[in-house]
Amino acid sequence: MAFELEKVVPWGRNMDEYRKMFSLTDDDLDRRIVSFGDGPASFNVEMTQKGKQVISVDPIYRFSAEEIVQRIEETKSVIMKQVKANAADFIWKQIRSPEELEAIRINAMGSFISDFEKGKAEGRYVDHALPGKTGFDENEFEVGISSHFLLLYAQLGLAFHISAIKEMLRVANEVRIFPVLDLDARESVLLKPVMDYFGADFNVQLQEVIYEFQQGGNKMLTIKKAI
Ligand SMILES: C[S@@+](CC[C@H](N)C(=O)[O-])C[C@H]1O[C@@H](n2cnc3c(N)ncnc32)[C@H](O)[C@@H]1O
Repeated sequence: MAFELEKVVPWGRNMDEYRKMFSLTDDDLDRRIVSFGDGPASFNVEMTQKGKQVISVDPIYRFSAEEIVQRIEETKSVIMKQVKANAADFIWKQIRSPEELEAIRINAMGSFISDFEKGKAEGRYVDHALPGKTGFDENEFEVGISSHFLLLYAQLGLAFHISAIKEMLRVANEVRIFPVLDLDARESVLLKPVMDYFGADFNVQLQEVIYEFQQGGNKMLTIKKAI
């Protein structure tokens, strides 16, 4: 099935948020990281500016910078309207207001856009849709992360998520997923079945992190190979 830009609502987070969402230590930042569903986040560009390496994977990367900018323009006011209408579902502490949220997101996506074509040419932005097999080697990465994609889009079904996480675990020694909520900000119905499924062969843990923007959204799922 073709991946359509019209179905994507681009909304990118920054490196400070990634560090908090995934409890990334200074040592972690020196590890080989792959980020799935990375979209228009500025994690990759900020990491690159600091001399660190990360590869971002997302089917949105098949589109041009202009097309992605246009989609951001089409959707941002709709998202902001929803955020304001549901302001009570968020914790306005680290991010203090809807206006600050919009500024942070626009800034992150602007940084991504200005780096996109260069990063694509350098192989840092890879066009690929999970759960399809990537071109990466087994254990090519030490850490595989997914922010606001896996578990969140519960409507894609358990089989999709299990296959996607299996591919992440093929290419990375450990996988971290944040948040463990669904689009209605309730615990994802997939969380328990995913933990049970991978718990048979992997070290699976639910860990509290210091990032909390959605009410109750301060947990990350980690799945590690026993090595
Ligand atoms: C809500 S955005 C999150 C962006 C970024 N990770 C962040 O937190 O700022 C979800 C991303 O998942 C991507 N996505 C959707 N389907 C995907 C798939 N099958 N494989 C990989 N990424 C996918 C979308 O293109 C979008 O960029």
